[in-house]
Amino acid sequence: MSTTVPTTPPAVLPVANDPCWCGSGRKYKRCHKQLDGRVVPHAVSPRREVPAHIVRPPYAETGKVQRWQESAVKTPEIIEKMRVAGKMGAEVLKLAGEFVRPGITTDEIDVYVHNLCIERNSYPSPLNYSGYPKSVCTSVNEVICHGIPDARVLLDGDIINLDVTCYFNGVHGDTNATFAVGTIDQESKNLIHVTEECIWRGIEAVVPGRPLSDIGKAIETRAKQDKLGVVRAFIGHGIGEQFHTDIQVLHYYDSHNNTIMRPGMTFTIEPMITLGTWQHRMWNDDWTAVTADGKRTAQFEHTVLVTDTGVDVLTGGPGAASPNAPWKR
Ligand code: MF3
Ligand code: CO
Ligand code: CO
Repeated sequence: MSTTVPTTPPAVLPVANDPCWCGSGRKYKRCHKQLDGRVVPHAVSPRREVPAHIVRPPYAETGKVQRWQESAVKTPEIIEKMRVAGKMGAEVLKLAGEFVRPGITTDEIDVYVHNLCIERNSYPSPLNYSGYPKSVCTSVNEVICHGIPDARVLLDGDIINLDVTCYFNGVHGDTNATFAVGTIDQESKNLIHVTEECIWRGIEAVVPGRPLSDIGKAIETRAKQDKLGVVRAFIGHGIGEQFHTDIQVLHYYDSHNNTIMRPGMTFTIEPMITLGTWQHRMWNDDWTAVTADGKRTAQFEHTVLVTDTGVDVLTGGPGAASPNAPWKR
């Protein structure tokens, strides 16, 4: 006889007045029923190694992120390197998206992404960033962002965001997209579709001489047309030799977000859009952010460069999961 207390629900759930599967002795309806259909934490596998010949970012060994002063406007040399890292991130994300299917675990996606990075002589930037334990973020259904790959099996009808960042030749390329697992419902399809439109409205608002707040304004306006929520707690960021630098890109309108966009600046735009509330809760792992109401959320992300005339999407173009604005395809 086993005395282990289960932490994940069994395949066949009790009916309301039966004892809960967790062994609390309480009725199921008064105990774990609230978690029905929710994503729950599963086992996380041991940390994966990166071969010694791959050049690592400074935090790779210690897990401690020490920031230094980095110019918001990049040199032509850094920009060229960022094009390469951006293209690499885009390629890995596309392949990872094609790998998604019902029946695999998010940990298997992590293995796949980890190896895709290594094959390209790139370090998977998330690995040990502030102690983050895996090489990609996998955020399922109500998980807003920073979901940790684990033993959870993807189910037909789930949606999943994969957030890939490649560190190559001293710079990072950061990009993410949301994918359907098998056949998804119409509401989820629309959520993903509108979220992709939101990011491209934001990208089109990147114009030298204009404030960053134009980006959030464009995104929020599009989300509101479909009565969708815009997450406020997680924002776009400056990027370059460091994964996150001090430029902040809000995805909703705030007049204080008034830094002027200048040619040579590089930052991410990564709106998280929700079916319900924009407010979040944090899992005990201190990474996984979920919607407070358990409703689904989607995200897309690109790393962009401000040019003399507009914008260059360093993680876009043919071969990207979201190559350009959907209405131009
Ligand atoms: N890629 C995420 C972003 O878009 C950051 C992930 S940090 C990690 O900013 F530690 F969770 F990997
Ligand atoms: Co980012
Ligand atoms: Co990212």
